[in-house]
Amino acid sequence: MPNLKHVAEYYARRLTGKLGHHLNAQEGRQRIFRDVLAAFPVDYIFEGGTNLGGSTEYFASHFEGEIHTAELMQRFHTIASMRLRRFRQVHRHRGNSTEVLSRVLDAQGRAAFGFHYLDAHWYDYLPIRDELALIREKSDRHVIMIDDFRVEGDAGYGYDDYGPETGVLELGYIADLLDPELPVYFPALPSAQETGFRRGCLLLSFDAAISRALGELATLRAHRPG
Ligand SMILES: C[S@@+](CC[C@H](N)C(=O)[O-])C[C@H]1O[C@@H](n2cnc3c(N)ncnc32)[C@H](O)[C@@H]1O
Repeated sequence: MPNLKHVAEYYARRLTGKLGHHLNAQEGRQRIFRDVLAAFPVDYIFEGGTNLGGSTEYFASHFEGEIHTAELMQRFHTIASMRLRRFRQVHRHRGNSTEVLSRVLDAQGRAAFGFHYLDAHWYDYLPIRDELALIREKSDRHVIMIDDFRVEGDAGYGYDDYGPETGVLELGYIADLLDPELPVYFPALPSAQETGFRRGCLLLSFDAAISRALGELATLRAHRPG
């Protein structure tokens, strides 16, 4: 049984237009997502951190395959579930994104092509490192987009800093998990030309051929992590 307060909050937010944004209301970021969809034969999308379902709704409006989105908090899960119920392809999971991701990867199998949008944070446990390790271990074909990530060479993009105990979303925090031979990618669009909240992001793949193909996208700029 959903909590009635959460149900009421959904209707209040809907009436007042406060149901969150599509990829931080960033048109440049939306173009990157659409470019990835056009360039790769994506079989499924995974999103860590549903929140109000704003980005999930954007994904579902552009992609008819399976979408899995995971949210830790019951309140956000209920609100997003109500918002997203018209999209039959969206599977709303309540739980830790790392555990949900592990199950989704097992169910999809190594050969399925996944787009992974890693956006679960805000609390003491930052799942990014565990999520990256899981994708590296269980998937052969994938693109990963990490939200709220520090963009090297463009300080106008915002990023999340949870302090030395928890972590900072920047390359140093994940460097040991990356293949030094493969580039990673930042938005090619300068932050001054981006719209919305201007949050930074990082894209990567652990697969060499997919990583090279990301380099063909005009919306991305390559960066050597080493
Ligand atoms: C930045 S918001 C996500 C925004 C959403 N992806 C969007 O684009 O609209 C972060 C969300 O992650 C959730 N979260 C934090 N840690 C989590 C975890 N370990 N597992 C699942 N969700 C988590 C938070 O409750 C919050 O709703």
